[in-house]
Amino acid sequence: MTSTLITGIGLLSTQSEIDDVRDAAVVLDGDRIAWVGIGNDAPAADDRVDVGGRAVIPGFVDSHAHLVFGGERSAEFAARMSGQPYSAGGIRSTVAATRAASDDELRQNVHRLTRELINSGSTTFEIKSGYGLTTQDESRALRIAREFTPETTYLGAHVVAPEYADDPTGYVDLVTGEMLDACAPHARWVDVFCDRGAFDADQARAILRAGMSAGLAPRVHANQLQHGPGVQVAVEMGAASADHCTHVDDGDIAALADSGTVATLLPGAEFSTRSPYPDARRLIDAGVTIALATDCNPGSSFTTSLPFCIAVAVRDMHMTPTEALTAATVGGAKALRRNDVGSIKVGARADLVVLDAPDPIHLAYRPGVDIIHQVWRAGAPVRRAADER
Ligand code: NIG
Ligand code: FE
Repeated sequence: MTSTLITGIGLLSTQSEIDDVRDAAVVLDGDRIAWVGIGNDAPAADDRVDVGGRAVIPGFVDSHAHLVFGGERSAEFAARMSGQPYSAGGIRSTVAATRAASDDELRQNVHRLTRELINSGSTTFEIKSGYGLTTQDESRALRIAREFTPETTYLGAHVVAPEYADDPTGYVDLVTGEMLDACAPHARWVDVFCDRGAFDADQARAILRAGMSAGLAPRVHANQLQHGPGVQVAVEMGAASADHCTHVDDGDIAALADSGTVATLLPGAEFSTRSPYPDARRLIDAGVTIALATDCNPGSSFTTSLPFCIAVAVRDMHMTPTEALTAATVGGAKALRRNDVGSIKVGARADLVVLDAPDPIHLAYRPGVDIIHQVWRAGAPVRRAADER
C-alpha cells in the first residue's frame, strides 16, 4: 500500500471533530486517511504532493441524483423560462426515452455524468432509478447504477407508469410486488415521490413499508411542488432523508428537528423550475440537519455541480458559506447514513478536494468558475491539476 503526504495546505476544512487547520498536511495510506495535522509535524510518506497554500475540503457527498435516463428536456426548460409551469408529468417523456435507450446508451450517459460529478468534487454519489417504471426497466436502471455506486435507490414510485394511468392502485401493487422483488437485490434505498401528481400519503407508506420488508432503507421526495404529507411520512417511517422540503410548515419543521431524518435541499430544482427556494434559515435555526444535493435529472435540475448548488444556497437561501459546505459534505453523508465519507479524519475514506483558492468561501464567492484543482477519491487522484494532465 502506498502512502501519500499532501502538504502545503493553506486551510484544511475538516468538517469533523478536528477544528479547521492552517498550514496543514494530510497523510493518505491506501484508500484511508492515516494522519491529519500541522504541516511541520507530518510524518514521512512514500509520496509527497505540495498543494501550494490552497484550501482543502472533504469530497462532496451528492446524496440525491437521477442519472439513469435517455434523452434530454431542454425544450421543456426553455418553455418554463417563458412562463410554463413545471409539473411531475414531464417525467413521463424521459420514461419513454429511457425505455427506448440501449443498456450501453444508458451506461455511457451515467459514465459521462459521474465524470462530471467527480470533476466538480463529488466523491460519493447516490443514483436513483425512476425513469423505467416497468419491472424490467427499473431493474435494468439499478443494475447499471450499481456499476457506478453502492448508493442505489429504487424509485419505481416516481410517478404512476403511463400504462396504469387509470389504475394507480394496480401500479402500487406492481411497485410493492414483482418490481420490488426484481429491484431490491440491486438497491440500498427505497424512495417515493409523495407530492401532487405522484403518490399520496397512504400509497407512500405502503411503498416504503414494502421496500423496508425487502431490506431497503427509506428516503422520500417530499413537499417539492406543494405543502403535503411527505415530510411527516418520511419522519414517521424513519427515513434517512426528506428531500426537497420546499413547502414546509411549523409542524413539519418541528417533526424534522425531533427526528433522525435529514432535510435534503435541492436548490438546482428551484433554480431550473424558477420556483421559490426552501427556507433553509428556518430549518437550520430550528435545529434540522441539512444536506445539499444536486438532484441531477434532465427535467427539473440538470446540473452535476455541488459548487453551483452551494453558491445558490449562500446567495439565495441565506445559508452561510460554512453551513453550505457542511451540508454538501457531512450533511450528505448523514443523509446516506455514512460516517466514512464527508469529513476529513483519521480512518475516513481518503476523499479530498484541493481548491484553487485560499478559502472554501470561494465556492460561493466565485460562482460559475471551476475552482476545483485536484480531486482524490479513496486515496487515488481522480482529477489531476491542470498542469499535470
Ligand atoms: O427530484 N421530484 C421528482 N423527481 C425529480 C424530477 C424529475 C423530472 O422532472 O424528470 C426531482 O425534481
Ligand atoms: Fe429528485
